[in-house]
Amino acid sequence: MKRFTLLALAVAAGAAYAAPKADLARGKEIATTVCASCHAADGNSGIAMYPKLSAQHAKYIYQQTVAIKDGKRTTGASAAMAPMVANLTDQDIVDVAAFYAKQFPKPGETNPKDNPELGAKIFRGGIAEKKIPACMSCHGPNGAGIPGGGTDIVAYPRVGGQHKAYIVDQMKAYKNGQRTHTIMVDIAKRMSDEEVDAVANFIQGLH
Ligand code: HEC
Ligand code: HEC
Repeated sequence: MKRFTLLALAVAAGAAYAAPKADLARGKEIATTVCASCHAADGNSGIAMYPKLSAQHAKYIYQQTVAIKDGKRTTGASAAMAPMVANLTDQDIVDVAAFYAKQFPKPGETNPKDNPELGAKIFRGGIAEKKIPACMSCHGPNGAGIPGGGTDIVAYPRVGGQHKAYIVDQMKAYKNGQRTHTIMVDIAKRMSDEEVDAVANFIQGLH
């Protein structure tokens, strides 16, 4: 009985999450006035320390924004973002997430001198001898990610076109436990700096 109740609660929580309707006009207003100075109004930030948000999955944007707001994600310069979003309501974050999810991503470029073949190999095929799965099995062949994934995984985030330096930083954060997520921690821990660098270079030009 107890197990059934917990399951029912988990399902109800998932359903409640999907419930709020997003107001895209309000989302655009928030993006322009609050987020644009770092992430750009269309989410195609030109500065590597600020991740691109365009076409990112709305649920992932929502989850990470709330985590940064609540001080649960403290990687990189998250501390600079936290006060900027401190006064946003839950509905505001739903709205701005929906807005960014609908913007068109502008890919970066893969540096041909920075091990692109190794990067492509890891992204598409993983590293068998280290039991590292292909990144594309979760992040998609073009890096667009996969929406939805239940309560533990709200979405497999889009990584295609993301800044290389940001990707490298996140892999380091998973490796050193600053960012926690069972799947990614497990993968990052088994990768060398050279492998991370190569796959991040490949991802930057992926679209
Ligand atoms: C003062 C600059 C700044 C502002 C303003 C800002 N952010 Fe950020 N944001 C950052 C930085 C820096 C990071 C990356 C932190 C890291 O390196 O881990 C980030 C990360 C994120 C992430 C995580 C992206 C990912 O791929 O995991 C999301 C989502 C996000 N911001 C949403 C927003 C939204 C929505 C707004 C406006 C309501 C906003 N941010 C305003 C600086 C800012
Ligand atoms: C089994 C599924 C799975 C595989 C395989 C996988 N990932 Fe992930 N990845 C995820 C999930 C889920 C998240 C979101 C984790 C979180 O909430 O912190 C994520 C997050 C990330 C992020 C952070 C994105 C952001 O915007 O902050 C990066 C970077 C990343 N993965 C890179 C990779 C690379 C590189 C590989 C291949 C070596 C890979 N992933 C393989 C599931 C996967």
